Amino acid sequence: MKNMNWPHKLKNPGHLTWILLTILCIQTVLISHAQTAKTNATGKKISPDLFGLFFEDINYAADGGLYAEQVQNRSFEYTPTERKEWHPLSYWEYIAPGFSYGKISVETSAPINSNNPHYIVLDAEHIGKEEKYTGATGVGIKNAGFAGIVVRAGEKYNLSLFAKQLSNVPITLTVSLQNPKGEILAENSISIASNDWKKYTATLTAKAGFDTASLVILATNTGKFALDVISLFPEKTFNNRPNGLRADLAQLLADMKPKFIRFPGGCLAHGDGLGNMYRWENTIGPIEERVEQRNIWGYHQTAGLGYYEYFQFCEDIGAKPLPVLPAAVSCQNSGGTWRIGGTGQKAIPMSEMQEYIQEVLDLVEWANGPASSAWGAKRAAAGHPAPFNLQYVGIGNEDKITPEFEERFKMIFNAVKAKHPEITVIGTVGPSPNGDDFEKGWKLADGLKVPVVDEHYYTSPEWFIANQNRYDRYKRNETQVYLGEYASWGNKLRNAIAEAAYMTSLERNGDVVRLSSYAPLFAKNNFTQWKTDMIFFDNVKVAPTPNYYVQKMFSSNAGDIYFNNVIEKDNKDTALAASCVQDSKTGDVMLKLVNFGNGTKTMKVNLSRFKKIIPEATQTILSGKPDGENSLENSLNIVPVTAGFNAVNHFDFQVPAMSLVVIRIKTKK
Ligand code: AHR
Repeated sequence: MKNMNWPHKLKNPGHLTWILLTILCIQTVLISHAQTAKTNATGKKISPDLFGLFFEDINYAADGGLYAEQVQNRSFEYTPTERKEWHPLSYWEYIAPGFSYGKISVETSAPINSNNPHYIVLDAEHIGKEEKYTGATGVGIKNAGFAGIVVRAGEKYNLSLFAKQLSNVPITLTVSLQNPKGEILAENSISIASNDWKKYTATLTAKAGFDTASLVILATNTGKFALDVISLFPEKTFNNRPNGLRADLAQLLADMKPKFIRFPGGCLAHGDGLGNMYRWENTIGPIEERVEQRNIWGYHQTAGLGYYEYFQFCEDIGAKPLPVLPAAVSCQNSGGTWRIGGTGQKAIPMSEMQEYIQEVLDLVEWANGPASSAWGAKRAAAGHPAPFNLQYVGIGNEDKITPEFEERFKMIFNAVKAKHPEITVIGTVGPSPNGDDFEKGWKLADGLKVPVVDEHYYTSPEWFIANQNRYDRYKRNETQVYLGEYASWGNKLRNAIAEAAYMTSLERNGDVVRLSSYAPLFAKNNFTQWKTDMIFFDNVKVAPTPNYYVQKMFSSNAGDIYFNNVIEKDNKDTALAASCVQDSKTGDVMLKLVNFGNGTKTMKVNLSRFKKIIPEATQTILSGKPDGENSLENSLNIVPVTAGFNAVNHFDFQVPAMSLVVIRIKTKK
C-alpha cells in the first residue's frame, strides 16, 4: 500500500476519511470494472465529445504534409537558426539554361511587408539563343518542393507569386512543372509590368504526370525584377479550399468522424522560448502577412496552415475546434536540445500580461464575435462571416507547474471566465500520468474549479492494460479530464489493441473523461522527430497504422449513453475489455469487444434491455499477428474487416486473439 499511487482526487483526507477511502479503493481495484461504473437501467450519460484528434506540426505534419503547398521555402525565409545549413535560398536553385546568364541575390531593403523580410532579385543579363539548342532558355529559379512535387496528368495547379520589375522593361516569365529530364509537364506564362509588389497568378494544367517534378520559373527577356511568396497548390484540395489541405490526408481524418480537433500542438503551442510561442494572431490574414518561424521540432513553419485554416477544416468535417494557447510561459524544454532541455521555461513579464490576456480574449471574439466586431470582421474578411462556434480553449501544454506558470494561468483563466463564461477552459497537469506536475496541476485546477484538465501519457502497452481502472477512481461532478495526448510505445497491432482496451475504460468513464486524443497524428516518412505516430505518409502514399484503425473504430462508433451489464466476460482476465454505448440521436447501439490475449475468448452479449433491435447489424474486426504493422510499402497488412452480423437479444461472440471487434446494431425508435 505504501507505494500505491493515490489518485489526485483522494488527496488530503482526514484520518478516518483516509481509512474509509483506502478500503473503498481496495474494493474498487478488486471488483470488476463493469461494477465500478455505475449506470442505471437507462444507462449513464457520457460525453458526446469523447473521441477527437490531436494535430501538431511535428514530423512535417503541416508544411510538407497536410498543408497542400508544394513549394518549399516559398518566401525565402529559411534561416541557419532553423538548421545550420539552411539560408534564404535553401531548396531553390538558380538556373540559366540555354547559354543564358545573369545574377541572383537575396535582399531585404523593400519587402512586401515587414513580416516577410526576404525576397530575391534576379537580373537576367542575357537570354541564350543558340541555333542548335532546342531546350528552354532564360534566367530564373527552380524548386523541387518537399522532396519532389507530385504532378498528376490532367489535373490543374494554381501558381501565385509576388513580383515587381526593377528595370524599365516588363518581364515575361514562363512558369512550368518539369520532370528531372527537363520535360515540360505543364506550362504557362506571367507578365510582370509593375514597379510595385503585385500578386500574379497562373493555372498550370498537367499534360503528363510525375511524382518528383520541379517548379521552374524563367525570365525570357533581359531585365531586373524581384520575386517573393511563390506558391503552388493542386486545385484539388480537401473540399476545394484555396490555401487548402492535401485531400487524401484530410480525408483520412474526416473518415474518423472526430468530435473535435486540438491544434496547433503540443510543445509547438508554447514554443522554444518566449519568442517562439505560437501566437495565433500571427497566423491569420493573407499568407504573405503571416509570421513565419522555426518550430520547436527544428524546421520551418510558414503558418500557411494557420488558425483560419484549422477552424475551417474543423467546420468542414463537423469537428469542434480546440485551440491550445500558451499559458504565457514557454516550453520547459526550451533551448539546447529538445530532449535534454536547455534554457527552460520562460514567462512573459508581468508588465506584458494584460496585452497577452487580451490576445487570448481576442481569439474568442475572432471565432465567435459578430462580423461587425473588430476581430469578427477579420474572420469575415477571410471569407467566414458566420461565427465558428468556439466552445473549448486550452491554456497551456503539459507545462512545468511553477509559481510563474500558476500566476499567469490564474490571470488568463479568470479573465476568460469573466468575459466569456460560455467558453470551457482546459487546464494542464504536466507530461505524465502522475508525479509532481500532475499533482500540482490538479491542485491548481481543483482550487480554481477549472472545468477540464489535459492529461498526457506515453507509455507501454502493458501500462494501458494494467491501468484500465484509472478513471473508475476519479471523483464525479468536478473537474473533468481531457486525455489530450496518449499512445503506447509502438505502432504494432498489440499497441493498438492495448489502446483499444483502455479506450473502453474511457467510454465507461465518459462522465469524467470528456475528451481524448491519440498523439501525435502525422509523420512524414524520413522526416520524423517522434517515432510512434498515427498516420505515416510520403508525398504520394499513406499508411494508417493499426492505432489509426482503433481510433477510427471508436470515434466513428461513439455514443453518448453508456450501459454496463450488456457484455459478460471473464473479469479476472485483464486481457479482456468491453464496452457498450448508444447514440441517443440515432438509437444505434455499439459494442466494443477487446481481446489482448493470444487465444480466442468468448463474450456473452445480452441486448434485451434494448427493446427493438434490428437484426441486420454489422461487425468490424481488427485482428492479426501481435507484431503486425503497416508500412508505406504494405499499407494494408492490418486493416479492419467489416461484414454483416445477425443481431439477436442474446448471443455469444468468439473474440479472436489480439483483436478489437465493433458490433453496430440499429434499434427501432
Ligand atoms: O506529441 C508529441 C509531444 O509530446 C507533444 O508536442 C508534447 O506535448 C508531448 O510531450
